[in-house]
Amino acid sequence: MNILVLGSGGREHTLAWKISQSFNCSHLFVAPGNAGTELVADNVDIQVNDFEAIGEFVKENEIELLVVGPEDPLVNGIRDYFEADDQLKATRIVGPGKVGAQLEGSKDFSKTFMQKHGIPTAESKTFTKETIKEGLAYLETCQLPIVLKADGLAAGKGVVIAQNIDEAKTTLNAMLIDKAFGEASSKVLVEQFLDGIELSVFVLTDGTDYIILPEAKDYKRIGEGDTGLNTGGMGAVSPVKFADQAFMTKVNEKVIKPTVAGLKTDGIDYKGFIFIGLMNVDGEPFVIEYNVRMGDPETQVVIPRIQSDIVDMLWAAAEGTLKDYELVVSGSTVVGVVLVSGGYPGSYEKGKSIQGLADITNTMVMHAGTKQDDYQVLTNGGRVLTIIGSGDELNDALNIVYKEINYISWQDMYYRKDIGKDILAARVF
Ligand code: AMP
Ligand code: GLY
Repeated sequence: MNILVLGSGGREHTLAWKISQSFNCSHLFVAPGNAGTELVADNVDIQVNDFEAIGEFVKENEIELLVVGPEDPLVNGIRDYFEADDQLKATRIVGPGKVGAQLEGSKDFSKTFMQKHGIPTAESKTFTKETIKEGLAYLETCQLPIVLKADGLAAGKGVVIAQNIDEAKTTLNAMLIDKAFGEASSKVLVEQFLDGIELSVFVLTDGTDYIILPEAKDYKRIGEGDTGLNTGGMGAVSPVKFADQAFMTKVNEKVIKPTVAGLKTDGIDYKGFIFIGLMNVDGEPFVIEYNVRMGDPETQVVIPRIQSDIVDMLWAAAEGTLKDYELVVSGSTVVGVVLVSGGYPGSYEKGKSIQGLADITNTMVMHAGTKQDDYQVLTNGGRVLTIIGSGDELNDALNIVYKEINYISWQDMYYRKDIGKDILAARVF
C-alpha cells in the first residue's frame, strides 16, 4: 500500500525507516520530511497543517494509510477533515480526531478526563482571568514547589515549577493577565508537585484493544545532570530498568485500561498512539500528561526494538483489528543521543555543514533539523541528529553511540555526554 507520514523530525525519520522495510509498503512519502527521510522515502513539499494540499496529494497518489507524526495537525482536526470528505474518508489514519486530541491540546480537558475516570494524577485546580483572585488565594494554600501549567499547546514551554509563593503569583499573573503563552495560557492549572522518576509509556489503540510498546526514559534538560532549560528531548533509553513487570502491571491496571475504556465511555473513537508521561512516585504511577502521538526522541529508541511488521501494526490500529496483532519486541537496549545546534533551546544558527555522516558504521543516524544541499547536509533546526545504538546491555549501547558521535561534527555542535549514566550509576532502577 502507499503510505504518507506527516512530519519532519527524528520521530518521523525513524517511523519512515521502519515502514520502508515492510513488504506491505509499496510507496512511502514523507511531508515535508528532512534530509534523512529522503534516504528511505520520497519527500513531499507540503506542510503538516495544510490539510487541503495533503488531501489532494492523498487522492492523487492513492494513499491508503496516513501516519500523523506531530500533535499539531491532530489538534487542528486532520482526521475530522478527512472524515468529512467523501473521497478521503476511506483513508486509514493513525491519530485521533479533534476531540481525542484534546488529551494533549488541553491540559484542563485531560485533567478532567483523568479525574472522571479515576486515573492517578496530581491534584489540580484550573483558573482563568476571571477567577485570578481565587487563584492567587489558592496558591497561598499550596505546598511548595507549585506547578503551574498553561492549558494549551506551548511548544513544551508551558510548565513552570515555582519554588516560592512570589514566583508562583508572578507566573500566574504573567500567564493569565499578560498572556505569556498567548491563548494557550488563557486557562492555567495549578498543580501539586510530584516527586519521583519520569517514564514515557507508549500505547497504540484502535479504540477498543491496545498494545503497549516498549517504554523509554527521556532526558529533557539541556544540561548534564538534568540542569538548565527544558528542550524537546536530548536523548532516550529503552528499556528502563525500574519499569519492571510489577510496575508495568500497575501502569496497565491503573492507567492504561481506564484511559482506553474512558475514551470509549466518553464516545471518543480514538485510533492512534497515546504517549503517557508518568511519574513513578515510590513505586506508584501518576500521569503527568498525555500526548496523542509518539515521543521524540523516544521513538528513535522504541521503534528499533520492534521486530514485528510495523505496517501491519499501524494498519491494525487504524482499521480496528489490533486484537489480532502480535507485537514482538527485542530484548536489547537501545540508546539515542541527540546532537543539537549550539544555543538551542534558545536562538541558534542554521546552515552549518555536517561532517562525518559517511563514517558512521555501527550506529544509525536519524535526522531532524537537516537539509540536503547539493552534495552536503546542512543543519536546519535546533535538534539536528539522533545517533542510535543498541547492545545487550546499556553500557554496550552507550559505548557504541558515544564512540561514533566522535565522527560527527559541525560548528557549535552540542550534545549531552551523560545520557543513561544515571541508570548505570543505579540512581535510577
Ligand atoms: P508537561 O508539559 O506536562 O510534560 O510538563 C513538562 C515537565 O514538567 C514534565 O516532563 C515534568 O518534568 C514536569 N512536571 C509537569 N507536571 C509536574 C508535576 N505535577 N510534578 C512534577 N513535575 C512536573
Ligand atoms: N520527548 C518528549 C516529547 O516528545 O514530548
